[in-house]
Amino acid sequence: MKNKQQHQALRKAAFQRLLPSRFMPVMHEAESIAPVNIALIKYWGKRDSALNLPITDSISIALQKYTTTKITQAAPSMKADCVILDGTEVSHETSFYIKLTEFLSHVRPDPSFYFHIATINDVPTGAGLASSASGFCALAKALNQYFDWKLSLEEISRLARLGSGSACRSVHSGLVQWKQGELSSGDDSYAVSLPYTLPELCLGIVFISKEEKPISSRDAMEQTVQTSPLYSAWPMTVSRHIAEMEVLLQNDQVHGIDFHRFGALCEQNALAMHATMAASLPPILYWTQETVRVIKSIFQFRKEERDIPLYFTMDAGPNIKLIFRRHDREKIQRLFPDLEIVEPLWH
Ligand code: PMV
Repeated sequence: MKNKQQHQALRKAAFQRLLPSRFMPVMHEAESIAPVNIALIKYWGKRDSALNLPITDSISIALQKYTTTKITQAAPSMKADCVILDGTEVSHETSFYIKLTEFLSHVRPDPSFYFHIATINDVPTGAGLASSASGFCALAKALNQYFDWKLSLEEISRLARLGSGSACRSVHSGLVQWKQGELSSGDDSYAVSLPYTLPELCLGIVFISKEEKPISSRDAMEQTVQTSPLYSAWPMTVSRHIAEMEVLLQNDQVHGIDFHRFGALCEQNALAMHATMAASLPPILYWTQETVRVIKSIFQFRKEERDIPLYFTMDAGPNIKLIFRRHDREKIQRLFPDLEIVEPLWH
């Protein structure tokens, strides 16, 4: 375990490797958007918590849901960054504000420069819908414009990763793989776009709670890695799932995707992640009674409608994301009338 100073020194060095030694804004304001991404093969566990370096690769899909971030310089009278989230100023005591300003502290042109950040999310913050991923990616892109750093996509991905791990995947549309990398600097840990499209793929969000999650994914991951007796099996499980996913996607180019195998693989990966965290001490369970009820109704649906592949995935929250084929959407919507259907973002 690193102490606080080592943690800060590592982060400082990572930002310094990415960014020029001196910089000033080249425009009055900059605005960028980034898509939400949902992991199909999950990232759960860090090999380095200062740099958000993962223990495994992960695979995600970008969605047509976005975060928009606009940055300007805060008024000279301001003595702190001002963060506006969906129209409301964020309190300086929240973990969201503290995490964001720590990130911003590495990109200030001088110590008296404060940012005004206005962020609009298409999804509720902190409800396991990956808004921190799209948020940090949109911020990294906006900063790149604002300071004209001319970063490549790979570098923006690395910068976004220093905000929130999964944010590195939001630089690309479509299917994306975050490479765990080997280097302790993390310079080889960034997201790449996968050359496959699944035009039939549809996702839907079953909102169970829009409340903030009881434990952050950062803390939950650490607790899992340190205390879950099942964690030792997780890296191997993910490698196998990624290899199986590659085979499925490659096959798709010839025969079309086997949706049952695709959905079952995503579902099994999510359940393995939740089982691993449930075995932590103290246990981590994001599920509510309603989550379990919905999961059972999905199992029941599969028994009755064998030809309709309906599967799910879940992140660090109680909400369920359904995975199904576009041409089954009416039947799925009948089962879940409040379902919010979200299309993947392919281009
Ligand atoms: O990047 P974080 O710290 O928000 O962690 C994301 C963790 C999961 O959403 C559960 C999995 C993933 O790969 O996105």
